[in-house]
Amino acid sequence: MPDYDPSQLTDAVLRSFASAPDARTRGVLQHLIAHLHGFVRDADLTLDEWRGAIDFLTRTGHKSGDTRQEFILLSDVLGVSMLVDAINHKSHAGATDTTVLGPFYVGEHRVTPHGSDLAPGAAGVRMWVEAVVGDAGGRPIAGAAADVWHADGDGFYDSQKPGYQLDKPEMRARFVTGADGKLSFRTIVPRSYPVPTDGPVGELLRASGRHAMRPAHIHFVINAPGFETLVTHLFVAGDDYLASDAVYGVKPSLIVGLVPHDGPTWPDGSPSPDRWFQMSYRFALKAKEATP
Ligand SMILES: [Fe+2]
Repeated sequence: MPDYDPSQLTDAVLRSFASAPDARTRGVLQHLIAHLHGFVRDADLTLDEWRGAIDFLTRTGHKSGDTRQEFILLSDVLGVSMLVDAINHKSHAGATDTTVLGPFYVGEHRVTPHGSDLAPGAAGVRMWVEAVVGDAGGRPIAGAAADVWHADGDGFYDSQKPGYQLDKPEMRARFVTGADGKLSFRTIVPRSYPVPTDGPVGELLRASGRHAMRPAHIHFVINAPGFETLVTHLFVAGDDYLASDAVYGVKPSLIVGLVPHDGPTWPDGSPSPDRWFQMSYRFALKAKEATP
């Protein structure tokens, strides 16, 4: 029976995982144990603090479900999501910058005709969004599927609202590009909003004296055969929180200035309000590397 001295415990635990047959599993676990033990030691963690951490993570799991992912939010506010994003996108090769997925993606959206209004009847300033999906050389990509979603004028996603139904999405749709690579839709100008603070992540932010705000943005996930999935946002230029996003997701190349227009028609010729804004962007997808 070994009598583990605390100074020998970490080595003993590392050795117990050293024969994991898969090299990657072995390597990741070795790093995890080394850093986790180092953290406990450096922080001089008390038993109460350790129990508090277990309780925090348990409640984070209980708060997660099909339409809300508190663990993703926790990863986001700790900066881990953007760190994973950064180390996995070291080489852009002319492709659009990536950012966090966020906790409110509900999976594949319903295919919707171009020019559709994603926010009929919603209060807010009207906006036309137009984008082209192409490769890094600027050639348009046909058949690219772009899932888009954003919060309403009060800062809530449809999936946060009581009575949300997957088959009745609001401000959430999929557009499939034609030969010109274009997609377009109407909606309202998104506003900055707080990440949900009614769960463990909110407690963490309050305990840290941090604000919960994210600058206004629209989410995009774009898939096309032969290309890497693009997970990104377009941020509204001029937002007060661009420099202090609660999840560290802002990249300068993703900030878009809105262009004001006067009516009477939208770009597709249909009647528009007297005043509306246009958001335009050109997405560039990164080609998948050929596997040998
Ligand atoms: Fe968001």
